[in-house]
Amino acid sequence: MELNTIERDDLGAAAEDLVVPPAATRKVFVKTYGCQMNVYDSQRMTDALAIDGYAATDAIGEADLVLLNTCHIREKAAEKVYSELGRVRELKAERAKAGREMLVGVAGCVAQAEGAEIIRRSPAVDLVIGPQTYHRLPAVLAKARSGEKIVETDYAVEDKFEHLPQPKRAELIRRGVTAFLTVQEGCDKFCTFCVVPYTRGSEVSRPVAQIVAEAERLADAGVREVTLLGQNVNAWHGRGEDSEEWGLGRLLFRLAEIPGLARLRYTTSHPRDMDDELIAAHRDLPALMPYLHLPVQSGSDRILRAMNRRHMAKDYLTLIDRIRAARNDIALSGDFIVGFPGETEADFEATMQLVEDVNYASAFSFKYSPRPGTPGAEMNDQVPEAVKDERLQRLQALLLKQQQHFGASLVGRTIDTLVEKPGRQAGQKVGRSPWLQPVIVDEKAGEIGDIIQVRITKTGYNSLFAELA
Ligand code: SAH
Ligand code: SF4
Ligand code: F3S
Repeated sequence: MELNTIERDDLGAAAEDLVVPPAATRKVFVKTYGCQMNVYDSQRMTDALAIDGYAATDAIGEADLVLLNTCHIREKAAEKVYSELGRVRELKAERAKAGREMLVGVAGCVAQAEGAEIIRRSPAVDLVIGPQTYHRLPAVLAKARSGEKIVETDYAVEDKFEHLPQPKRAELIRRGVTAFLTVQEGCDKFCTFCVVPYTRGSEVSRPVAQIVAEAERLADAGVREVTLLGQNVNAWHGRGEDSEEWGLGRLLFRLAEIPGLARLRYTTSHPRDMDDELIAAHRDLPALMPYLHLPVQSGSDRILRAMNRRHMAKDYLTLIDRIRAARNDIALSGDFIVGFPGETEADFEATMQLVEDVNYASAFSFKYSPRPGTPGAEMNDQVPEAVKDERLQRLQALLLKQQQHFGASLVGRTIDTLVEKPGRQAGQKVGRSPWLQPVIVDEKAGEIGDIIQVRITKTGYNSLFAELA
């Protein structure tokens, strides 16, 4: 267990001179970086802090606590956090001059990876808390309020999910008709480029009963669409209500029985964990949306091996064929890394070829970013930045073409849309297509939470425009 106390810096006045507001009027500003799991975690931390007397605010200037929930996946993500901390430091000094305390906390994957280093580099930070200890946040804060600097990054023995408070129903209603639900966390796969196994720890699946209870609470608050989250979500497994060992496919069938839950999704999957039952769920379960994010990273066998992905390009293509045979209107999405150490022009061409073969509806692509502590960072043959830039441009041009082609193929078709929220422009509402595109409709087309049938009239950059069918 790592629990460091570090001298307070000389920023502003000492803690005891500052006015600590009474519990009921404290405010917390949370900023979230990175993946959907961080979005979910920020909500759970906000829930824990609500019980501790902190109301959420969107105005950082009025916050008694600023919490950055960080991402470490690529260098840029981590650097953003440090530059934000520079701005927060100034705000904190201003607040101190006005006689009010502002505590600064860093949570998430940078917190886990860098620990006390964050406080050394950014002395304005009062507390650092890793993803596996969020249920201890109120206790950590109590110490921080008394002037101690806290680093809490051990892997807790207790189940954090059991100890994190559930939000009030009114809060769930406020959050809207779509929701995330973490079912699995951590990763044992150790791809050679990736920090996640180090920042999130080893693979843990939440028990069936906990997941069902949380999904029921969401449905009871009007949530229509739930996205199950995990770093390796399709590796989820657990003992079911029938005492059998369930995989994700079986869990999806169970969740689809919950009244009100009309749509299910899951992300992110690893190709090696797509089992027959899960593929069958895509065929047999109407609530499971026909959209699958299945990262492959590269189309070159040599690079896949160096990445420790533990499958070949051909395995991925065969898997895609099986998934499409089960559900022919499924839209596929993926992640790609260009410029992994040793990637030659021929390796990159193999990735381009794989993209041509699969034909993605959307995808994310990144330049390889060496991460401290991962095997990839130590490899010879790092690819020059200019080469990475050039390859990324070519790949993104192809992926964009495919994405636009997919959008255009929907024009004239009648599809289901979940009405999600008011539009940015007056008179509009925004819905969500089965394939995760925003669908712009007239505000009278339906109430938020309705699933309506619309006809697609045209495409926008990333969205669809539609009229009631
Ligand atoms: N668990 C998921 C991915 C999690 S990270 C999976 O196994 O697919 C999300 C994406 O970030 C990855 O799919 C990868 O494309 C990208 N990524 C991860 N580490 C990276 C790195 N060091 N440099 C560039 N991109 C990276
Ligand atoms: Fe990272 Fe690989 Fe695990 Fe995905 S499977 S989280 S890319 S180590
Ligand atoms: Fe980033 Fe951690 Fe998610 S590194 S992508 S916030 S799991």
